[in-house]
Amino acid sequence: MLRVAVMVSGGGTNLQAIIDAVAEGKITNTELVAVISNNPGAYALTRAKNAGIKDIVVSPKEYSSRADFHKALTDTVDSLKVDLIVLAGYLVVIPPELIDKYENRIINIHPSLIPSFCGTGYYGLKVHEAALNRGVKVVGATVHFVDKGTDTGPIILQKAVNVEPDDTPEILQRRVMEQAEWKLLPEAIDLIANGKVSVVDGKAVIQHN
Ligand code: GRF
Repeated sequence: MLRVAVMVSGGGTNLQAIIDAVAEGKITNTELVAVISNNPGAYALTRAKNAGIKDIVVSPKEYSSRADFHKALTDTVDSLKVDLIVLAGYLVVIPPELIDKYENRIINIHPSLIPSFCGTGYYGLKVHEAALNRGVKVVGATVHFVDKGTDTGPIILQKAVNVEPDDTPEILQRRVMEQAEWKLLPEAIDLIANGKVSVVDGKAVIQHN
C-alpha cells in the first residue's frame, strides 16, 4: 500500500481528483495519509477534512527563518512515513533536504507541456496567459518528478489540450485542469503505486501494460 501525502496551497481541485479517483478505484494500492498546506485558508484543507484525511498546516509565516520552516516541514513529512509526496498546486519552494531524502518520490503537476511555459514565475494563470500571448495552438499538463530545479525533473506523463478561439486564461486553465491535470495526476499515482514507473538515466520509464 503506497502511503501518500499531498501538498497544497489553494482550491484543491487536483487534490479532489485524487480523492475521487481513490474512492472510485481508479487509484489502487494507495492510502492518502495526509494533506499538508502552507496556507491555513486553503480550501483544499476543507476537501481533506470532508474526505476524512488528516489536514496539516505548516506555514512559513510561523517560523522566524526559512531554515526553521524547512526543518519543520521536513520533520512533519518524515513523521508521516510516506512513500510518495504529491505537489498539487503547492506554491512554496520545497526544501532541498526534502528533495534529497525523497529522491524520485516527489511528483508535481504543472499546467503546461514542459519544457514550454515552465520554470521560475510560471504558475497558475501566468502559464495560460503566456501560452495565449505566444499564440500556441496546443497546451497541456505534465506530471514530473521533482528535483532541485524548477519544473526540471524527469517527466512521467503529459497530455495535450487544444487552445480554442477566444480562449481567456481562465477558460484555458479550466480546460487544462478538466482534460489533463485531473486525469494525469491520478494516473501517475496509480502507476507509481503499482510499481510501473522507474527512472533510468534521468528519464522516467513507464510500464503501461
Ligand atoms: C493547478 O493549475 C495546477 O496545475 C497548478 O496549481 C493549480 C492548483 O489548482 N500546479 P488546485 O489547487 O489543484 O485547484
